Amino acid sequence: MRVLVLNGPNLNLLGKREPGVYGKQTLSEIEAEVRDHASKLGVEIDFRQSNSEGDLIGWIHESPLSFSAIILNAAAYTHTSIALRDAISSVNVPTIEVHLSNIHAREDFRHRSVIAPVCRGQICGFGSLSYILALEASVIINVRK
Ligand code: DQA
Repeated sequence: MRVLVLNGPNLNLLGKREPGVYGKQTLSEIEAEVRDHASKLGVEIDFRQSNSEGDLIGWIHESPLSFSAIILNAAAYTHTSIALRDAISSVNVPTIEVHLSNIHAREDFRHRSVIAPVCRGQICGFGSLSYILALEASVIINVRK
């Protein structure tokens, strides 16, 4: 089974960016943690980051060819991007929305996720563990389908 892990804008700055909110781990360190867990589950992962909405949309469009699930931290696009939402609903690949922080405990504008209604579910607030939980969920939903 192959899982696509997508990370949106500004997540390349993790480690330096608002460590009080997002922690001290870099995105590479999170990737290593996710890869380690994936190998224990026998899952192959492709881990990508882009600051561009178009890249994320293109990767989602291509995903049915190679992936059984998408784990998506759309970062700020979560709250604004109807284009990303439409991309998710255009492909038949279960997408799990993740966030490091608990978006519901933060500013009002972060409470609304425009992608949530077209995602299989949302996991937020657990730091890098949000990705690990999403990986576990993606395996379980694929076994049960
Ligand atoms: C985030 C939460 C978003 O509101 C924010 O714009 C991010 C990161 C998170 O992982 O907690 O960039 O997706």
